[in-house]
Amino acid sequence: MTRKTPQDLRSARWFAPDDLRTFGHKSRMLQLGYDEQDFRDKPVIGILNTWSELNTCHSHFRERAQDVKRGVLQAGGFGVEMPSLSVDESFTKPTSMLYRNMLAMETEEMIRSHPLDGVVLMGGCDKTTPGLVMGAISAGVPLIYLPAGPMLRGNYAGKILGSGSDAWKYWDERRAGNISDAEWTGVQGGIARSAGTCMTMGTASTMTAIADAMGITLPGASSIPAVDSGHQRMSASCGRRIVEMVWEDLTPEKIITSGACKNAAVVAMATGCSTNAVVHLIAMARRAGVDLTLDDLDALGRITPLIANVRPSGKDYLMEDFYYAGGLRALMKQIEAMLDTSCLTVTGKTMGENLEGAQVYNDDVIRPLSNPVYKEGSLAVLRGNLCPDGAVIKPAACDPKYYHHEGPALVFDSYPEMKKAVDDENLDITPNTVMVLRNAGPLGGPGFPEWGMLPIPKALLKQGHRDMLRISDARMSGTSYGACVLHISPESYIGGPLALLKTGDTVRLDLNARSLDMLVDDAELARRRAAWIPPEPKFERGYGYLFSKHVTQAGKGCDFDFLETGFGRTAGEPDI
Ligand code: FES
Ligand code: MG
Repeated sequence: MTRKTPQDLRSARWFAPDDLRTFGHKSRMLQLGYDEQDFRDKPVIGILNTWSELNTCHSHFRERAQDVKRGVLQAGGFGVEMPSLSVDESFTKPTSMLYRNMLAMETEEMIRSHPLDGVVLMGGCDKTTPGLVMGAISAGVPLIYLPAGPMLRGNYAGKILGSGSDAWKYWDERRAGNISDAEWTGVQGGIARSAGTCMTMGTASTMTAIADAMGITLPGASSIPAVDSGHQRMSASCGRRIVEMVWEDLTPEKIITSGACKNAAVVAMATGCSTNAVVHLIAMARRAGVDLTLDDLDALGRITPLIANVRPSGKDYLMEDFYYAGGLRALMKQIEAMLDTSCLTVTGKTMGENLEGAQVYNDDVIRPLSNPVYKEGSLAVLRGNLCPDGAVIKPAACDPKYYHHEGPALVFDSYPEMKKAVDDENLDITPNTVMVLRNAGPLGGPGFPEWGMLPIPKALLKQGHRDMLRISDARMSGTSYGACVLHISPESYIGGPLALLKTGDTVRLDLNARSLDMLVDDAELARRRAAWIPPEPKFERGYGYLFSKHVTQAGKGCDFDFLETGFGRTAGEPDI
């Protein structure tokens, strides 16, 4: 392998020439208190930090950035911390998904426009992983992803609580009148006890596992709890390793190959991944020029057993248990035969080499292939006259009695309309009804909100029901569960067939056949289509306008069309 020399460094373009521009760059480095020997002829490492005081999952990142810097310095590099758009899941309205692509754009442009030779990407809360990675792939400099790590298990009154999942569960009990105000407040105080991302196998844990399986984190880094001292040591190791990666010119296109994307998909299925993984993984792959499709994911889903017994797909455990059981390396070791172990990773070694010596320490948490939690993967892709471009369902997280279901639709056009109806104790509904929410997709939401786990109507809760078939063009949180069909595409807001469904029509789901249909004849659908009136645009200015002009549908990853690899030429590297 030929190593780069200091003259080959990208940052040398800013610091090496004897001209007026360089004078400007160097005098400004001196202004920061650095001598030339601090940064000249050294890899300049951007530490892209998505810390913010409203990002609860990244509250340890200011300290971790210092750990990364320590590692960079030890390895002979020069680290600069750069704040990046902190897309948080807890507070962002209308939905954090509206801003994933903004983070991706910011990441790409901040890297391209600055004297950076390599980057450490600090993220973890749901959209930050795909946003940072998509942008950095397009920028093309060597990268390591530093996952925030899951928070500690939740705890209240001796009971273990899981992020999201237990919030929904206790909320249903509260609406059914089964728990007191004091218990509700207690759950509120116990469900999120430390820095770190949601500690169920929600979107955050799924996406960081995907990054790990793609080979862009240090091996197993995604499983380390945020507040474990191992997380600090991993951060310093990221700093040391990225400096070497710059000298080795180990760029993302050498790592994020079609084999790496397939490995990521297999691991996602084996962990019982969040449905959001579908959208993000496709978007990340497409940035790397890999055409991963919904059908590829469905095919992998059919042959990959779910072996991580972590909520919400698994019954019993949380991410902290998963780490003690051996973490992601141990899980990958179990399914090694399904992986492309020849893929190169950020360590400079292959995935197979990284997995050497990995062991399972608790085979109830990380199950052997002979005793999976669910024999097929956790996701299935549906098609039919309601979703010609696809929809997804998470069979492992719903009652099998809904795998084949026919029932009358109850259709809502907006979230507020639905919310009002579900609290009406006299709502005309049976357990057989199929609840439908539309105008909740990428454009209709807007921003593709996580509304897809439609609340069970009070009228049914009081009768003891806790699940029913629900369909929408929304996403749902990775910590959600139930018989929810999501991502119906094309979405209703742009005239997808879901827009034509009426209350009372029969909807049929057949999981074995991977189909979702409305039993309405074509002539009637044509009549309804002719009468359909497109809704008003949601945005007339600003970022939302850009979003609505360029976002792709779920099956293509919801990236902006003009950011996808292959769209066209960028201006290239700055040379002035
Ligand atoms: Fe950040 Fe769940 S809110 S990972
Ligand atoms: Mg989430």
